[in-house]
Amino acid sequence: MQKPIRKAVFPVAGLGTRFLPATKAIPKEMLPVVDRPLIQYAVDEAREAGIEQMIFVTGRGKGAIEDHFDIAFELEKTMADRGRDISVLEATRLGPGNCAYVRQQEPMGLGHAIWCARDIVGDEPFAIFLPDEFMHGSPGCMKQMVDAYTQVGGNLISVLEVPREQVSSYGVIAPGKANGALTEVTGLVEKPPVADAPSNLIISGRYILQPEVMRVLEGQEKGAGGEIQLTDAMATMIGKQPFHAVTFDGTRYDCGSKAGYIQANLAVAMGRPDMADAVRAFAIDLLK
Ligand code: UTP
Repeated sequence: MQKPIRKAVFPVAGLGTRFLPATKAIPKEMLPVVDRPLIQYAVDEAREAGIEQMIFVTGRGKGAIEDHFDIAFELEKTMADRGRDISVLEATRLGPGNCAYVRQQEPMGLGHAIWCARDIVGDEPFAIFLPDEFMHGSPGCMKQMVDAYTQVGGNLISVLEVPREQVSSYGVIAPGKANGALTEVTGLVEKPPVADAPSNLIISGRYILQPEVMRVLEGQEKGAGGEIQLTDAMATMIGKQPFHAVTFDGTRYDCGSKAGYIQANLAVAMGRPDMADAVRAFAIDLLK
């Protein structure tokens, strides 16, 4: 029996420089894909996987995320008084038992952001979501990972294949034995030069990790880009605990990049009965 995954960490303290000026005053994680912000999709994916407590690692200028998951009393009352349907806001409410916020004072890297949540995570396995990696599929990516976790336990990361020349922008795995969607991980390296990359399988924004990773992060030196890298901390756990990669059955859009963000909007809009026809007609017209 594996310990259940009850908690998820959402690191949202990054600067979002690739989306400036849009992200000067608005957190990148609040950018909408059609009509839901990226962070809402990630929280919904966590809920679908049975996760109960959402832990947000925030920074300066990220207050809109806290407001988004709060009760908007004036808005709800005004809408209710006018007979408007407020069910659209239901998924945005996270009660005090279901959320916690912790501050990363300086954006020192993803590994450091995760370490900031150590006291709230405590001594249990936990999930990590990078909300700008938009995972589109059913069941969701984390549900697929939790199902795999109940079989193999230990640590899991979601991976996907990219053209080899792109690997230097990502964390890359050295793959071992594969069994269906599960692949053993024998090594991990962050942003390797193309020639040194152990594969073209990149880590894609979802993790299930054992709490020991927090103790590794405690003494972690800076890695690639002068940041404290989660990939380096995970690499030291390989061989000590089971470590697997899960190939997501679905589509991932890199919403940290502008092209990926536009693709995600188009893909979601095309799947929405209330707008698919209008968007398709517009796209066909535009392509002419
Ligand atoms: P990114 O590498 O996408 O960085 O971080 P970023 O700052 O958000 O965006 P760019 O590259 O400047 O455009 C991946 C995830 O890790 C979080 C980010 O918020 C994002 O969700 N992160 C990154 C932190 O929380 N703290 C950090 O120090 C770095």
